[in-house]
Amino acid sequence: MNEQCCIIRFPETDYSPLTLEKHSNLSEHLTVQNSPVLFGCRTGICGTCLVVVKGNIPPPSKDEKEVLETLAPGNSQVRLACQLALSSDIEIAAFDDEE
Ligand code: FES
Repeated sequence: MNEQCCIIRFPETDYSPLTLEKHSNLSEHLTVQNSPVLFGCRTGICGTCLVVVKGNIPPPSKDEKEVLETLAPGNSQVRLACQLALSSDIEIAAFDDEE
């Protein structure tokens, strides 16, 4: 097992798990071909990349938190995929805005 790698899983989808190096930037590695995640600005502003993340990742930065509080208030599992600091294996699911 390589401890420098993290596995990204997309449960309940047909996408295969991806193995990325720790601290990789998801927005540089996830594409429409290999993941269900869509990106827009890639700088933490637009909210296109909102996802529900399960796993052990560092808390959001102040800027990310502000965007999350606007787009998904009260949901602590929702994160901006383009801002994630990858530090362990995670599961990513699409964020369904049911409002
Ligand atoms: S792609 Fe715009 S916030 Fe992540």
